[in-house]
Amino acid sequence: MSIMVIGGAGYIGAHVVRLLTERGEDVVVVDDLSTGVEDRVGGATLVELDVAGTDAQERLELVMRQRGVDSVIHFAAKKQVGESVERPTWYYRQNVGGLVNLLSAMENTGVVRMIFSSSAAVYGMPDVELVTEETDPRPINPYGQTKLIGEWLMADCGQSWGLRWSALRYFNVAGAGWPELGDPAVLNLVPMVLDRLARGERPRIFGDDYETPDGTCIRDYIHVLDLAHAHLAALDQLDGEASGRIFNVGTGTGASVREVIDEIGRASGLDVAADVEPRRPGDPPRLVASPERIADELAWKAEHGLPEIVASAWAAWQAGPRPVRVG
Ligand code: UFG
Repeated sequence: MSIMVIGGAGYIGAHVVRLLTERGEDVVVVDDLSTGVEDRVGGATLVELDVAGTDAQERLELVMRQRGVDSVIHFAAKKQVGESVERPTWYYRQNVGGLVNLLSAMENTGVVRMIFSSSAAVYGMPDVELVTEETDPRPINPYGQTKLIGEWLMADCGQSWGLRWSALRYFNVAGAGWPELGDPAVLNLVPMVLDRLARGERPRIFGDDYETPDGTCIRDYIHVLDLAHAHLAALDQLDGEASGRIFNVGTGTGASVREVIDEIGRASGLDVAADVEPRRPGDPPRLVASPERIADELAWKAEHGLPEIVASAWAAWQAGPRPVRVG
Protein backbone atom coordinates (compact mmCIF):
# COMPACT_ATOMS: atom_id res chain seq x y z
CA MET A 1 0.00 0.00 0.00
CA SER A 2 1.19 3.52 -0.53
CA ILE A 3 0.86 6.91 1.08
CA MET A 4 -0.20 9.89 -1.02
CA VAL A 5 1.42 13.13 0.09
CA ILE A 6 -0.34 16.09 -1.47
CA GLY A 7 1.96 19.10 -1.45
CA GLY A 8 4.91 16.77 -0.89
CA ALA A 9 7.26 18.98 -2.91
CA GLY A 10 6.68 21.90 -0.54
CA TYR A 11 8.64 22.94 2.50
CA ILE A 12 6.93 20.86 5.20
CA GLY A 13 5.68 18.14 2.85
CA ALA A 14 9.19 17.38 1.59
CA HIS A 15 10.36 16.77 5.15
CA VAL A 16 7.56 14.29 5.71
CA VAL A 17 8.26 12.58 2.37
CA ARG A 18 11.92 12.20 3.38
CA LEU A 19 11.00 10.61 6.73
CA LEU A 20 8.43 8.27 5.16
CA THR A 21 10.87 7.19 2.45
CA GLU A 22 13.57 6.60 5.07
CA ARG A 23 11.31 4.20 6.90
CA GLY A 24 10.61 2.30 3.71
CA GLU A 25 7.11 3.50 2.84
CA ASP A 26 5.91 3.64 -0.74
CA VAL A 27 5.16 7.34 -1.30
CA VAL A 28 3.38 9.05 -4.15
CA VAL A 29 3.66 12.83 -4.15
CA VAL A 30 0.94 14.94 -5.71
CA ASP A 31 1.95 18.56 -6.22
CA ASP A 32 1.16 21.32 -8.70
CA LEU A 33 4.70 22.70 -8.26
CA SER A 34 3.26 26.20 -7.72
CA THR A 35 5.53 26.60 -4.71
CA GLY A 36 6.91 23.08 -4.49
CA VAL A 37 10.21 22.08 -6.04
CA GLU A 38 10.58 18.79 -7.95
CA ASP A 39 14.08 18.04 -6.59
CA ARG A 40 12.72 17.85 -3.08
CA VAL A 41 10.70 14.66 -3.44
CA GLY A 42 13.79 12.42 -3.62
CA GLY A 43 12.96 8.86 -4.63
CA ALA A 44 9.17 9.28 -4.39
CA THR A 45 7.00 9.31 -7.51
CA LEU A 46 5.73 12.78 -8.43
CA VAL A 47 2.35 13.36 -10.06
CA GLU A 48 1.90 16.95 -11.17
CA LEU A 49 -1.67 17.90 -10.36
CA ASP A 50 -3.54 20.83 -8.77
CA VAL A 51 -6.06 19.42 -6.26
CA ALA A 52 -8.28 22.43 -6.85
CA GLY A 53 -8.21 22.00 -10.65
CA THR A 54 -11.32 21.10 -12.63
CA ASP A 55 -10.37 17.48 -13.39
CA ALA A 56 -8.60 16.93 -10.05
CA GLN A 57 -11.07 14.49 -8.51
CA GLU A 58 -10.97 12.05 -11.44
CA ARG A 59 -7.19 12.26 -11.70
CA LEU A 60 -6.78 11.69 -7.96
CA GLU A 61 -9.06 8.65 -8.12
CA LEU A 62 -6.96 7.22 -10.93
CA VAL A 63 -3.70 7.63 -9.00
CA MET A 64 -5.29 6.23 -5.82
CA ARG A 65 -6.43 3.10 -7.66
CA GLN A 66 -3.25 2.65 -9.70
CA ARG A 67 -0.94 3.08 -6.73
CA GLY A 68 -2.98 1.26 -4.09
CA VAL A 69 -3.12 4.34 -1.87
CA ASP A 70 -4.42 3.68 1.64
CA SER A 71 -3.53 6.98 3.38
CA VAL A 72 -3.32 10.62 2.45
CA ILE A 73 -1.33 13.43 4.04
CA HIS A 74 -2.69 16.71 2.73
CA PHE A 75 -0.44 19.80 2.77
CA ALA A 76 -1.44 21.50 -0.45
CA ALA A 77 -3.08 24.83 0.36
CA LYS A 78 -2.59 28.55 0.08
CA LYS A 79 -1.28 30.09 3.30
CA GLN A 80 -0.83 33.84 2.98
CA VAL A 81 -3.11 35.66 5.37
CA GLY A 82 -3.00 39.02 3.55
CA GLU A 83 -3.69 37.42 0.18
CA SER A 84 -6.64 35.52 1.70
CA VAL A 85 -8.19 38.81 2.80
CA GLU A 86 -7.79 40.26 -0.70
CA ARG A 87 -8.96 37.15 -2.61
CA PRO A 88 -11.35 35.22 -0.35
CA THR A 89 -13.20 33.36 -3.11
CA TRP A 90 -9.92 32.12 -4.55
CA TYR A 91 -8.78 30.99 -1.09
CA TYR A 92 -11.99 29.08 -0.51
CA ARG A 93 -11.72 27.55 -3.98
CA GLN A 94 -8.13 26.45 -3.37
CA ASN A 95 -8.29 25.34 0.24
CA VAL A 96 -11.89 24.20 0.67
CA GLY A 97 -12.56 23.28 -2.98
CA GLY A 98 -9.29 21.33 -3.16
CA LEU A 99 -10.21 19.43 -0.03
CA VAL A 100 -13.69 18.65 -1.39
CA ASN A 101 -12.10 17.19 -4.53
CA LEU A 102 -9.71 15.12 -2.46
CA LEU A 103 -12.33 13.80 -0.03
CA SER A 104 -14.68 12.95 -2.92
CA ALA A 105 -11.88 10.95 -4.56
CA MET A 106 -11.14 9.21 -1.26
CA GLU A 107 -14.79 8.34 -0.71
CA ASN A 108 -15.11 6.91 -4.22
CA THR A 109 -11.96 4.80 -3.95
CA GLY A 110 -12.38 3.68 -0.32
CA VAL A 111 -9.30 5.50 1.00
CA VAL A 112 -10.22 6.35 4.58
CA ARG A 113 -7.04 7.54 6.32
CA MET A 114 -6.07 11.19 6.27
CA ILE A 115 -3.80 13.68 8.03
CA PHE A 116 -4.68 17.34 7.46
CA SER A 117 -2.52 20.45 7.83
CA SER A 118 -4.48 22.86 9.97
CA SER A 119 -3.11 26.02 11.56
CA ALA A 120 -2.93 28.05 14.74
CA ALA A 121 -4.65 30.65 12.55
CA VAL A 122 -7.94 28.97 13.55
CA TYR A 123 -7.55 30.54 17.03
CA GLY A 124 -7.49 34.15 15.82
CA MET A 125 -6.63 36.43 18.74
CA PRO A 126 -6.83 34.15 21.79
CA ASP A 127 -6.55 35.80 25.17
CA VAL A 128 -4.89 32.91 26.99
CA GLU A 129 -1.35 32.08 28.04
CA LEU A 130 -1.38 28.65 26.40
CA VAL A 131 -3.84 27.74 23.67
CA THR A 132 -5.39 24.30 24.06
CA GLU A 133 -7.43 22.46 21.45
CA GLU A 134 -10.46 23.35 23.57
CA THR A 135 -9.81 27.08 23.17
CA ASP A 136 -12.64 28.52 21.11
CA PRO A 137 -11.55 28.71 17.46
CA ARG A 138 -12.33 32.20 16.18
CA PRO A 139 -10.36 32.80 13.00
CA ILE A 140 -10.01 36.42 11.95
CA ASN A 141 -9.19 35.97 8.27
CA PRO A 142 -10.29 33.80 5.33
CA TYR A 143 -7.13 31.69 5.55
CA GLY A 144 -7.94 30.67 9.12
CA GLN A 145 -11.60 30.10 8.19
CA THR A 146 -10.64 27.69 5.39
CA LYS A 147 -8.58 25.62 7.83
CA LEU A 148 -11.41 25.43 10.37
CA ILE A 149 -13.90 24.51 7.66
CA GLY A 150 -11.48 21.76 6.61
CA GLU A 151 -11.65 20.27 10.09
CA TRP A 152 -15.46 20.41 10.07
CA LEU A 153 -15.65 18.85 6.64
CA MET A 154 -13.47 15.92 7.70
CA ALA A 155 -15.57 15.44 10.85
CA ASP A 156 -18.69 15.21 8.68
CA CYS A 157 -17.01 12.69 6.37
CA GLY A 158 -16.00 10.69 9.45
CA GLN A 159 -19.66 10.49 10.45
CA SER A 160 -20.96 9.76 6.99
CA TRP A 161 -18.51 7.31 5.36
CA GLY A 162 -16.00 6.45 8.03
CA LEU A 163 -13.11 8.79 7.20
CA ARG A 164 -10.39 8.30 9.81
CA TRP A 165 -8.55 11.59 10.24
CA SER A 166 -6.43 13.86 12.36
CA ALA A 167 -5.78 17.58 12.01
CA LEU A 168 -2.50 19.13 13.08
CA ARG A 169 -2.70 22.79 14.01
CA TYR A 170 0.77 24.09 13.23
CA PHE A 171 2.20 26.97 15.19
CA ASN A 172 5.18 28.89 13.74
CA VAL A 173 7.19 26.50 11.62
CA ALA A 174 10.83 27.27 10.80
CA GLY A 175 14.25 25.67 10.36
CA ALA A 176 15.34 22.80 8.14
CA GLY A 177 15.84 19.11 8.81
CA TRP A 178 18.32 18.94 5.90
CA PRO A 179 20.12 21.97 4.49
CA GLU A 180 18.62 21.42 1.04
CA LEU A 181 15.08 21.43 2.44
CA GLY A 182 15.03 24.97 3.82
CA ASP A 183 11.92 27.15 3.53
CA PRO A 184 11.80 28.09 -0.17
CA ALA A 185 9.69 31.24 0.45
CA VAL A 186 10.34 34.52 2.19
CA LEU A 187 7.02 34.80 3.99
CA ASN A 188 7.73 34.34 7.69
CA LEU A 189 9.90 35.99 10.29
CA VAL A 190 13.08 33.87 10.07
CA PRO A 191 13.43 33.87 6.26
CA MET A 192 12.32 37.51 6.12
CA VAL A 193 15.10 38.54 8.49
CA LEU A 194 17.68 36.43 6.63
CA ASP A 195 16.53 37.94 3.34
CA ARG A 196 16.92 41.50 4.66
CA LEU A 197 20.38 40.73 6.01
CA ALA A 198 21.46 39.12 2.73
CA ARG A 199 20.53 42.33 0.93
CA GLY A 200 22.39 44.49 3.42
CA GLU A 201 19.17 45.80 4.95
CA ARG A 202 18.15 45.95 8.59
CA PRO A 203 15.53 43.46 9.85
CA ARG A 204 12.13 44.93 10.60
CA ILE A 205 10.09 44.54 13.78
CA PHE A 206 6.37 45.05 13.23
CA GLY A 207 5.46 46.79 16.48
CA ASP A 208 7.30 46.92 19.80
CA ASP A 209 4.47 48.32 21.90
CA TYR A 210 2.56 45.12 22.61
CA GLU A 211 1.82 44.06 26.18
CA THR A 212 4.63 41.53 26.25
CA PRO A 213 7.89 41.66 28.23
CA ASP A 214 9.94 43.27 25.43
CA GLY A 215 6.95 44.76 23.59
CA THR A 216 7.25 42.48 20.53
CA CYS A 217 4.90 39.63 19.58
CA ILE A 218 5.42 36.18 21.02
CA ARG A 219 5.06 33.00 18.98
CA ASP A 220 5.68 29.29 19.47
CA TYR A 221 8.42 28.34 16.98
CA ILE A 222 8.45 24.71 15.99
CA HIS A 223 11.27 22.99 14.11
CA VAL A 224 10.03 21.65 10.78
CA LEU A 225 11.64 18.27 11.48
CA ASP A 226 9.76 17.95 14.77
CA LEU A 227 6.58 18.89 12.92
CA ALA A 228 7.32 16.26 10.27
CA HIS A 229 7.70 13.60 12.97
CA ALA A 230 4.30 14.63 14.38
CA HIS A 231 2.73 13.67 11.03
CA LEU A 232 4.15 10.18 11.20
CA ALA A 233 2.96 9.78 14.78
CA ALA A 234 -0.53 10.99 13.80
CA LEU A 235 -0.64 8.64 10.82
CA ASP A 236 0.43 5.66 12.91
CA GLN A 237 -2.25 6.47 15.47
CA LEU A 238 -4.92 5.94 12.81
CA ASP A 239 -4.03 2.23 12.99
CA GLY A 240 -5.70 2.20 16.42
CA GLU A 241 -9.13 3.28 17.57
CA ALA A 242 -8.59 7.05 17.55
CA SER A 243 -9.97 9.25 14.81
CA GLY A 244 -11.16 12.83 14.49
CA ARG A 245 -8.43 14.08 16.80
CA ILE A 246 -7.13 17.63 16.56
CA PHE A 247 -3.64 18.41 17.84
CA ASN A 248 -1.70 21.59 18.43
CA VAL A 249 1.83 21.18 17.18
CA GLY A 250 4.00 23.53 19.18
CA THR A 251 6.50 23.48 22.01
CA GLY A 252 4.65 25.25 24.82
CA THR A 253 7.40 27.89 24.93
CA GLY A 254 7.13 31.32 23.35
CA ALA A 255 9.82 33.52 21.86
CA SER A 256 9.47 37.20 21.00
CA VAL A 257 10.35 38.75 17.66
CA ARG A 258 13.37 40.39 19.29
CA GLU A 259 14.52 37.08 20.76
CA VAL A 260 14.30 35.41 17.36
CA ILE A 261 16.25 38.22 15.70
CA ASP A 262 18.92 38.08 18.43
CA GLU A 263 19.20 34.32 17.92
CA ILE A 264 19.74 34.90 14.20
CA GLY A 265 22.54 37.30 15.13
CA ARG A 266 24.15 34.61 17.29
CA ALA A 267 23.85 31.89 14.63
CA SER A 268 25.10 34.04 11.75
CA GLY A 269 27.52 36.39 13.46
CA LEU A 270 25.84 39.26 11.58
CA ASP A 271 24.79 42.62 12.97
CA VAL A 272 21.02 42.28 13.42
CA ALA A 273 20.16 45.79 14.65
CA ALA A 274 16.52 46.15 13.63
CA ASP A 275 14.15 48.95 12.61
CA VAL A 276 10.87 49.19 14.46
CA GLU A 277 7.91 49.64 12.13
CA PRO A 278 4.16 49.99 12.83
CA ARG A 279 2.14 46.99 13.96
CA ARG A 280 0.97 44.64 11.24
CA PRO A 281 -2.85 44.37 11.29
CA GLY A 282 -4.22 41.11 12.70
CA ASP A 283 -1.15 40.03 14.67
CA PRO A 284 -2.06 38.47 18.02
CA PRO A 285 0.39 39.66 20.73
CA ARG A 286 0.91 36.12 21.94
CA LEU A 287 0.20 32.72 20.39
CA VAL A 288 1.73 29.78 22.23
CA ALA A 289 0.50 26.18 22.14
CA SER A 290 -0.28 23.90 24.96
CA PRO A 291 1.39 20.75 23.60
CA GLU A 292 -0.19 18.51 26.26
CA ARG A 293 -2.71 16.62 24.16
CA ILE A 294 -0.23 15.57 21.49
CA ALA A 295 2.23 14.48 24.19
CA ASP A 296 -0.45 12.40 25.90
CA GLU A 297 -2.05 10.84 22.85
CA LEU A 298 0.79 10.58 20.33
CA ALA A 299 3.77 10.50 22.70
CA TRP A 300 5.22 13.33 20.61
CA LYS A 301 7.18 16.29 21.84
CA ALA A 302 9.45 18.80 20.17
CA GLU A 303 13.11 17.83 20.37
CA HIS A 304 14.54 21.10 19.06
CA GLY A 305 14.46 24.59 20.53
CA LEU A 306 14.90 28.04 19.05
CA PRO A 307 18.73 27.88 18.76
CA GLU A 308 18.53 24.71 16.63
CA ILE A 309 15.67 26.10 14.57
CA VAL A 310 17.59 29.25 13.75
CA ALA A 311 20.95 27.50 13.24
CA SER A 312 19.38 25.02 10.80
CA ALA A 313 17.58 27.82 8.93
CA TRP A 314 20.88 29.68 8.65
CA ALA A 315 22.71 26.56 7.40
CA ALA A 316 19.98 25.96 4.80
CA TRP A 317 20.13 29.60 3.76
CA GLN A 318 23.86 29.33 3.17
CA ALA A 319 23.52 26.02 1.33
CA GLY A 320 21.22 27.80 -1.16
CA PRO A 321 19.49 28.08 -3.54
CA ARG A 322 18.16 31.33 -2.15
CA PRO A 323 14.47 31.33 -1.30
CA VAL A 324 11.98 33.14 -3.47
CA ARG A 325 10.40 36.36 -2.24
CA VAL A 326 6.65 35.98 -2.42
CA GLY A 327 3.91 38.63 -2.27
N1 UFG B 1 7.47 39.88 12.04
C1 UFG B 1 8.31 40.97 12.18
N2 UFG B 1 9.16 41.27 11.16
C2 UFG B 1 9.21 40.55 10.01
C3 UFG B 1 8.34 39.44 9.86
C4 UFG B 1 7.48 39.12 10.91
O1 UFG B 1 8.29 41.68 13.19
O2 UFG B 1 10.00 40.90 9.12
C5 UFG B 1 6.61 39.49 13.17
C6 UFG B 1 5.15 39.45 12.86
O3 UFG B 1 4.56 40.71 12.96
C7 UFG B 1 4.68 38.46 13.94
C8 UFG B 1 5.86 37.49 14.09
O4 UFG B 1 6.98 38.19 13.55
O5 UFG B 1 4.49 39.14 15.13
C9 UFG B 1 5.70 36.20 13.35
O6 UFG B 1 5.29 36.50 12.03
P1 UFG B 1 5.17 35.43 10.86
O7 UFG B 1 4.67 36.15 9.67
O8 UFG B 1 6.42 34.67 10.76
O9 UFG B 1 4.09 34.41 11.40
P2 UFG B 1 2.60 34.64 11.93
O10 UFG B 1 2.61 34.32 13.38
O11 UFG B 1 2.05 35.94 11.54
O12 UFG B 1 1.85 33.58 11.04
C10 UFG B 1 1.97 32.21 11.25
C11 UFG B 1 1.79 31.47 9.94
C12 UFG B 1 0.42 31.74 9.37
C13 UFG B 1 -0.62 31.43 10.40
C14 UFG B 1 -0.33 32.12 11.69
C15 UFG B 1 -1.25 31.68 12.77
O13 UFG B 1 2.77 31.88 9.00
O14 UFG B 1 0.21 30.91 8.25
O15 UFG B 1 0.98 31.84 12.14
O16 UFG B 1 -1.48 32.72 13.65
F1 UFG B 1 -1.82 31.88 9.94
